Amino acid sequence: MSDPWNAEQYRQRHAFVFQSSEDLAAEWLRPQPGEKILDLGCGSGELTARIAASGAEVVGVDASPAMIAAAQQSYPAMRFEVQNAHTLPYEAEFDAVFSNAALHWMNPLPPVFGRVAAALRPGGRFVLEMGGAGNVQTTLDAVAYALHLLGLPDLPSPWVFPTSGELCTGLEAAGLRVERLHWFERPSLLTGEDGFRAWLAGFGGAWLAPLGEAEREEVIRLAEEYARPRLWNGEAWVSDYRRLRALAVKG
Ligand code: BEZ
Repeated sequence: MSDPWNAEQYRQRHAFVFQSSEDLAAEWLRPQPGEKILDLGCGSGELTARIAASGAEVVGVDASPAMIAAAQQSYPAMRFEVQNAHTLPYEAEFDAVFSNAALHWMNPLPPVFGRVAAALRPGGRFVLEMGGAGNVQTTLDAVAYALHLLGLPDLPSPWVFPTSGELCTGLEAAGLRVERLHWFERPSLLTGEDGFRAWLAGFGGAWLAPLGEAEREEVIRLAEEYARPRLWNGEAWVSDYRRLRALAVKG
């Protein structure tokens, strides 16, 4: 499959993805000098570099070659690898695995949690943030509405947004003991008057891929119409982000 990610666009339009989770690294992960840490789904590498500044040795991995190339160019002294989360090759190598805003792309999650557990040393920790149940629900509803209006079949979104219970069950099944868990709302600004359609164009590529060009344009236009009274506050688009954070330890 071709690589749908555009690192420059991601940095410019979606910087909030890594900016809003800096405290996940600082307060949940608390990296220590000399620790070996895996950043799973590192994207363009900004948080990876932030973690490395603590003195930890960090390896950033992502399934997108474009993202890894951009990360490597920005941070040439650091180690980045293209890896599929479902087939991570590491065995008992890491003191911690960190993942921000990436796991919801990694459907199904159970094999990923299995590979994360395998990558951790005994006592190692997995710190994650991802979309939780109800995340971007208005956008999901908007696209369903647009497809329905056009008489097109529903398209399943590519994402997985678990409930707290589902996440705990999945982590525990992989041998990870959940010590901390938090579901919360984080309304997120989608910058620009075209913020909603830019988000759909940037993140919804795989989702809307079965549509032809003209159909896709029409779906986005109708979805924006549905979303406007719900997400446009008169000055800006604010999306209904809902997050799940967890800290789980390998027994
Ligand atoms: C998120 O960070 O919640 C997210 C980003 C892109 C697509 C879906 C969800």
